[in-house]
Amino acid sequence: MKETLERIRQEALSALEGTQAAQELEALRVKYLGKKGELTAVLKQMGRLSAEDRPVMGQLANEVRASLERAIETAAKKLESAALEARLKAEAVDVTIPGQSIRQGRKHPMYLALDEIKDIFVGMGFTVLDGPEVELAELNFDRLNAEEGHPSRDWSDTFYFDEDSRVMLRSQTSPMQVRAMDSMELPIRIIAPGRVYRKDEVDATHSPMFHQVEGMVIDKGVTMADLKGTLNTVVEQLYGKGTVTRFRPHHFPFTEPSCEMDVQCHKCGGAGCPTCKGEGWIELLGAGMIHPNVLRMAHIDPEVYSGWAFGMGLERTAMRRFKIADLRLIFENDVRFLEQF
Ligand code: DAH
Repeated sequence: MKETLERIRQEALSALEGTQAAQELEALRVKYLGKKGELTAVLKQMGRLSAEDRPVMGQLANEVRASLERAIETAAKKLESAALEARLKAEAVDVTIPGQSIRQGRKHPMYLALDEIKDIFVGMGFTVLDGPEVELAELNFDRLNAEEGHPSRDWSDTFYFDEDSRVMLRSQTSPMQVRAMDSMELPIRIIAPGRVYRKDEVDATHSPMFHQVEGMVIDKGVTMADLKGTLNTVVEQLYGKGTVTRFRPHHFPFTEPSCEMDVQCHKCGGAGCPTCKGEGWIELLGAGMIHPNVLRMAHIDPEVYSGWAFGMGLERTAMRRFKIADLRLIFENDVRFLEQF
């Protein structure tokens, strides 16, 4: 029996030393220490030993068991730390590899120009208003003195939502004048930027959706001189000192007198070129003194108060600001174009 125990000890210890995996280790444990294991089988035969041999063999058997248990524990620890090391190696992150750069967006040039315009007007005491793009025809037309039958009300020009032409996509930011008059205390100084919609085909100068900035001042004693002085100041701040403008007579139903303001072409300096279509000038806005009818409809007495207003094309203003030649560049949103600003 003694030899058997020694053999088991030696065999088991050398087998345990070579274990590579947890299952292997478990199999060895079962093989030697399990219920049907070799050591257990030897112990079962203890009963047959003599009274003197039994305690000696018992002690030896216990020693063997203890040494096997220790060896199993050591082997288990070794496997565990090897597994941990392998995992750390596999999951290692090389912090010296350069990161992936994320392509950064930029503000659209038109909104950069709008930010400048807002800053200029806010600096002069104007409030910036926002208003609905789905508008009542009453505010877009009637309250702006454009009566039934006015050509701008035609179905071929305007996106209406209903058969009887009451609700529409606003065709201009001018209804914001009415909204301001209806909701604000006098005197009023506002600008109102936003999208407007017309049934136009897309070409180098047209789009069915574009942007305007409306402006309006109502106070006592306001004149056309204030209008020209304010707009010239704005243009010089936006485009630089000495930028030349001109005011041409025009017609709008909601202003009297009405005008359009041009700015001298940045490309040719007024000589005429493709950018200004040979004109030497680029039209930026319509403007005028608010028609007494419009004031009256808002319950403002035109004998006491007067006002001026303008509606500026934002795309054109931005194109002149950043020297962009084609309107379509503004809408295409090609990043190669946008990244320049
Ligand atoms: N709403 C006009 C348009 O879309 C532009 C305009 C002209 C606005 C004269 C005004 C103004 O406020 O006084 O063509």
